[in-house]
Amino acid sequence: MAVRGNFSSKIGFIAAAAGSAVGLGNIWGFPYETGAGGGAIFVLVYLFFCFALCFPVMLTELAIGRKSGRNAVGAFNALGHKKWNFIGKLGVLSGVLILSFYNVIAGWAFGYTFEMATGNFAIAEQFGDFTTDVFAVGSYGLLFMLCTAFIVSKGISGGIERAAKILMPSLIVMMVSLIIYALFLPNAMTGIEFFLLPDFSKLNLSVVFNAMGQAFFSLSLGMGTFITYGSYISKSDNLVSSAALITLADVGIAIIAGLMIFPLIGFVSGGTLSGVGRGPELIFVTLPYIFGEIGGTTGSIVGMSFFSLLCFAALTSTVSLLEVPVAYVVDEFKISRTKAAWLMSGIVYLIGIPSLLGNGYSSFFTEFITYINATTSTDFLTFIVNIANDSFLPLGGCLMVFFAAHVWKKSNLDAEIAIGFEGYEESFIKKYLGFVVPFLLPATLAVIFMMIVLVTFFGL
Ligand code: PFF
Repeated sequence: MAVRGNFSSKIGFIAAAAGSAVGLGNIWGFPYETGAGGGAIFVLVYLFFCFALCFPVMLTELAIGRKSGRNAVGAFNALGHKKWNFIGKLGVLSGVLILSFYNVIAGWAFGYTFEMATGNFAIAEQFGDFTTDVFAVGSYGLLFMLCTAFIVSKGISGGIERAAKILMPSLIVMMVSLIIYALFLPNAMTGIEFFLLPDFSKLNLSVVFNAMGQAFFSLSLGMGTFITYGSYISKSDNLVSSAALITLADVGIAIIAGLMIFPLIGFVSGGTLSGVGRGPELIFVTLPYIFGEIGGTTGSIVGMSFFSLLCFAALTSTVSLLEVPVAYVVDEFKISRTKAAWLMSGIVYLIGIPSLLGNGYSSFFTEFITYINATTSTDFLTFIVNIANDSFLPLGGCLMVFFAAHVWKKSNLDAEIAIGFEGYEESFIKKYLGFVVPFLLPATLAVIFMMIVLVTFFGL
């Protein structure tokens, strides 16, 4: 087999894995889902899912990856269960689909970096015009995809690890500075209250499903990212502490993003919080407005720094999204990493073109499909989000946990987790996994998956 490469250190692995988790999902997705989902109640459900349900899925993926030392599909073969490698294939497909639209949004963030650099704060009111300028936005997306492919082609420690170690800390410093700025603005506290004080009357099934989808997406679970990354880590690493660090980093950055954005919305809306539920355009509208309020060269610098760091956060995620299919073809079809990275990224870019066109430019892709019982149509990008993020990720997570518990067997899962973790046998986490992994977790995920499909596509 070709030389696969490894992370050079535990910290490098954590940075890359947290880099995968932390991305547009935290800074773009989490605030708008929270805004649309009624504020703090959404946050509460989301936190519950992250720790109670997603954390065991992450551990399972890491254990399968490290034990097998293979990609998301090959892992199942290496463990002696080739019949089950369809789970990995579903993961590869999810990775390709998610990257195809994710890159479009990363392209927006990339474009905004230039808009801020030239002081075009008026873009806050022209977001619709911006996304329909498909040649500009498509070029930004293309550049973004080229960067992703370049890093992935450089392999694990040289590319992925090195980029993540520098970019992640810069992002945190930038966001915390913006929080401090935001908290001193008038009406900031109305935003903070919305974000932190739950209103239980707003709890409903769609809040639960969206929080679940958001947790899976944000933690990069259910498509074999952590099987793939787990295959590059050393036997002496403690998988439980690694998974805990990754989860905490991811949740932490989402909360930081919320603490940054909601006070700003409080300020912009004069305390009424109007527009908080506006959806995917939320940060692309609110933030440039604020940077315009700061104004002048300072506003430009702050705006440019923010969107460039958002691009970096997205880049460590796109790298992991591309790594899943690339590792698959490198391992299984013996294609060189460089060739695989360029080839795959080209295919994914093409698949993303309808998502690019479906934001107002082409009415066919903008009004792509009307689900059963729905009154309005759904654009192509949202359609892919509904299929890949909302449906495939929970389904993939469900199948992986089921596989680990009943096909590979729970005792093997335990044995792998115990390596690098002295005292695992008597630990609380072993008892917890014993409680959830065999039945409760796969059953819950299966029910959630079915409900999501019924509600989203059949309007039940
Ligand atoms: N977790 C990333 C984010 O929050 O932006 C998105 C993502 C990356 C999802 C990698 C899935 C994945 F495999």
